Amino acid sequence: MANDGGKLFITRRTISLDEALAQHGLMAAFQVEIWEGEGAPSPATLLEKAQGCVGILTQVVDPIDAAFMDAVPTLRVISQCAVGVNNIDLAAARERGIAVGHTPGVLTDATADMTFALLLAAARHVVAGADLVRAGGWRGWEPMLLLGKALQGATLGILGYGRIGQTVARRAKGFDMRVLAHRLSPERAAQDGVTAVDFEALLRESDFLSLHVPLRPETHHLIDAAALALMKRDAALINMARGEVVDPQALYKALHTGQIGMAALDVTEPEPIPADHPLVGLPNCLIVPHLGSATVQARRAMTQLAVANLAAGVRGEPLPHRAN
Ligand code: GLV
Repeated sequence: MANDGGKLFITRRTISLDEALAQHGLMAAFQVEIWEGEGAPSPATLLEKAQGCVGILTQVVDPIDAAFMDAVPTLRVISQCAVGVNNIDLAAARERGIAVGHTPGVLTDATADMTFALLLAAARHVVAGADLVRAGGWRGWEPMLLLGKALQGATLGILGYGRIGQTVARRAKGFDMRVLAHRLSPERAAQDGVTAVDFEALLRESDFLSLHVPLRPETHHLIDAAALALMKRDAALINMARGEVVDPQALYKALHTGQIGMAALDVTEPEPIPADHPLVGLPNCLIVPHLGSATVQARRAMTQLAVANLAAGVRGEPLPHRAN
């Protein structure tokens, strides 16, 4: 009988989802439900929809904890359509024999590109310039208008030298930047032309500090008031990791008092950040709505990989990319 493999719930429609589901034969073999509502399903709706499911395909905004897993004892696989999995209790999943999939690799270039979009926007006041023109404030060429920071010869510090951090380093070389990173072997540093430094030197020496660490208990508010106090007064902080890696109150204070020069954030704590949040009103803080992997190509490849992980998990096969 068709569709008797069990139930699957997919928490958002993503690009090329139908093609990926068809390619893996999931529509024919399983009862697949795709959430078509506005925004993400609420935690209560997610739990209700997951009842009886053997697999779920999740996004970064879907909280999946041990209680959820206990309430869905049929679950064999949680397939996250993202590289970060901080919304899922990985250890609880492992204890219960639930495989967790994720999508590393396919979003690396898109996220590294966005890092440079923010870095350049911060360095060269791109958004302030566009706002000025739109507001009718451009009165003609001015020799001192919106002078920015050169990238050539500037020092880029990379916190989190994984796939994305390494790809950002390669892009930085093209801009003739000096690149620092920490927690990498001397061999790796030599091979990549990157200088290995400790955390404190990374903070002290960077003109641009770019965050690419996963959110874990040890990285929660890693960039706090003490860390910000070590940074250069004109430094720019770029956060492409998770909002919770930076203490938002401390960041506000550092930007407001000129302790650091600028911040450009792809991620915030909380998300979405309210329009009346103090950080949103700061002229030296640029915030975009978690767009790191938001290209057609990356999101299509993420969907394909997430569906491949889901298909493998529900069939009891090894996942192409397992996070736990
Ligand atoms: C996006 O934030 C991701 O983790 O893929």
